Amino acid sequence: MSKVSGKFGVSDLARFGGEKMFGRVRGTPNLVRPNVEQFLTYSREFFEARRYTNAGPLVRRLEARLAHMHGVKYCIAFANAFWAIVMTIRSLALEGRSELVMPSLTYRRLADIVSWTGLTPHFCEVNKDTLAMDPKFAVKAVNERTALLLAPHPIVNNCDVAGMEELSAKTKIPLVFDSVESAMETYRGTMIGGFGRAECFSMHSSKLINGFEGGYVTTNDAVLAERLGYVRGFGFAAEDRVVALGLNAKLNEVHAAMALAAIDDLPAQIERNRAKYVLYRELLRGIPEIRLLEFDDNEKRCYKTIVVELLNSWPLSRGRTIDILHAEGALVRPYYSPPQHLKKMAYETIAEDLSETERLAERFLLLPCGAHVDEDDISQVVDLLAFLRSRAAEIGSAFDRAALA
Ligand SMILES: Cc1ncc(COP(=O)(O)O)c(C=O)c1O
Repeated sequence: MSKVSGKFGVSDLARFGGEKMFGRVRGTPNLVRPNVEQFLTYSREFFEARRYTNAGPLVRRLEARLAHMHGVKYCIAFANAFWAIVMTIRSLALEGRSELVMPSLTYRRLADIVSWTGLTPHFCEVNKDTLAMDPKFAVKAVNERTALLLAPHPIVNNCDVAGMEELSAKTKIPLVFDSVESAMETYRGTMIGGFGRAECFSMHSSKLINGFEGGYVTTNDAVLAERLGYVRGFGFAAEDRVVALGLNAKLNEVHAAMALAAIDDLPAQIERNRAKYVLYRELLRGIPEIRLLEFDDNEKRCYKTIVVELLNSWPLSRGRTIDILHAEGALVRPYYSPPQHLKKMAYETIAEDLSETERLAERFLLLPCGAHVDEDDISQVVDLLAFLRSRAAEIGSAFDRAALA
């Protein structure tokens, strides 16, 4: 069992003085590298035309392509998802209201993004099975001050889109999806992108489509699309005609070139991701104390990130498990932990009882994945996990001795 990871005894673990399993770290960000020639071919276009930014031809082509892929009328590219989300919320939030309902167990800086809109994040509980915002908990945080519902999709599968839309219709509070983790997936057979009033996506290098940095909003709302087109570029509607308070959050041409090349590679990337996911699934069957969060194969999925639950029967604490894996160069990450309501923020937030969120935040881990992780790495990681399980008692003693030393 330990032949793959090279660990035969506890002293072989890097945490306790042994040799590191990975010289170059294996992390969890996607970091896809599209074909460099493809990237340069796109880049030559803007370079030769001397069109570097300000809604250049590649940004427009990217927007058209993304709108088509998501099956929506409009796509508005931004410099990142951060400002895409801020400006979408600012455009749609009900006037005179001060709060925004969102889960605490989600992207660790999502509340910061909300704070830039001037609204106060009001955290709600999540569904224990999907780890996602759930209308039956979200409704408890809704009140007469609620300006908007922000529903982020979880890392594996989707939140209850229909339920959230129903809540939005019933309360007449606008609904925006943070769909960063569900890009190019389907919900009940329909592409993510056209639900709620708008959906927001990231093209950060760690995401499905690598534009180095970048983001975009999809919507079928013509008024919103026009407004976002202004506000991302200082609010200019025409030369010297500013129609709204804007900022500078435009996507530039070199980022669009990278994103277009990444989209060209997307079908192949999804196949590669799926092969790695299937291998993890197969190998993890040998460790019943670890549960892989399985992708719903009845929907279109991109298989980008591998999330596991350490069940109660797993014999080591999550902290010690992470400690050992990090020492080996396997940069596993706790899933959205700590949750946002437990962090010290520079702004006000509202949280009622979030005990389920707190419980869930202690249980999940992201395992190494992405373009820089290959099948051999996966075998080594799972083999190491099996080794940890088989030597848990000795490892526990080694930790205790190290603490006393
Ligand atoms: C769910 C989610 N929303 C928003 C963001 C922010 O994206 P960006 O880095 O493009 O600003 C991220 C980034 O990791 C994310 O994971």
